[in-house]
Amino acid sequence: MENLKDGDFTAQAESILQRYPREQRFALAMMQDFQKEYDYLPREAIRRIAGYLEVPPGKIYSLATFYKAISMEKKGKYIIKVCDGTACHIRSSTWIIEEIGKLLGIKPGGTSADGRFSLETVKCLGTCALAPVMVINDEYFGSLTVGKVKKILQRYGGRADEE
Ligand code: FES
Repeated sequence: MENLKDGDFTAQAESILQRYPREQRFALAMMQDFQKEYDYLPREAIRRIAGYLEVPPGKIYSLATFYKAISMEKKGKYIIKVCDGTACHIRSSTWIIEEIGKLLGIKPGGTSADGRFSLETVKCLGTCALAPVMVINDEYFGSLTVGKVKKILQRYGGRADEE
């Protein structure tokens, strides 16, 4: 099981499942609770939900892949969201995304091999006047350039300092 201590996980899983009646309409809420607890939906959680609801695990798995809000991949310590909305796109957000990908060796939707960074693209961060913009966890960075991105990632311990 993915870095989860079995005893702890069993107790946690039980406490989540017991919040809900054994009805399929609560499957999404259960998945969200697991994700809140672990920052992603562990595969073992899918098995537990399926067992609790007495449905095949494949059914829960399909639901999990259907909902964009559910992630089955463990996210990095730092989640980088680069805006690729219209205002940011016309100000070269594509280059920013490419540069981050090059520096960290990840593509949008991926997590670096050291588990430090996840890269995502979003449609608007609500700060279009500062385009192009990205946010790392809760910290916003605007008027980005390729050079600025390198410096910012250095602060977070990215491999940019090896370039
Ligand atoms: S389009 Fe990028 S912040 Fe709005």
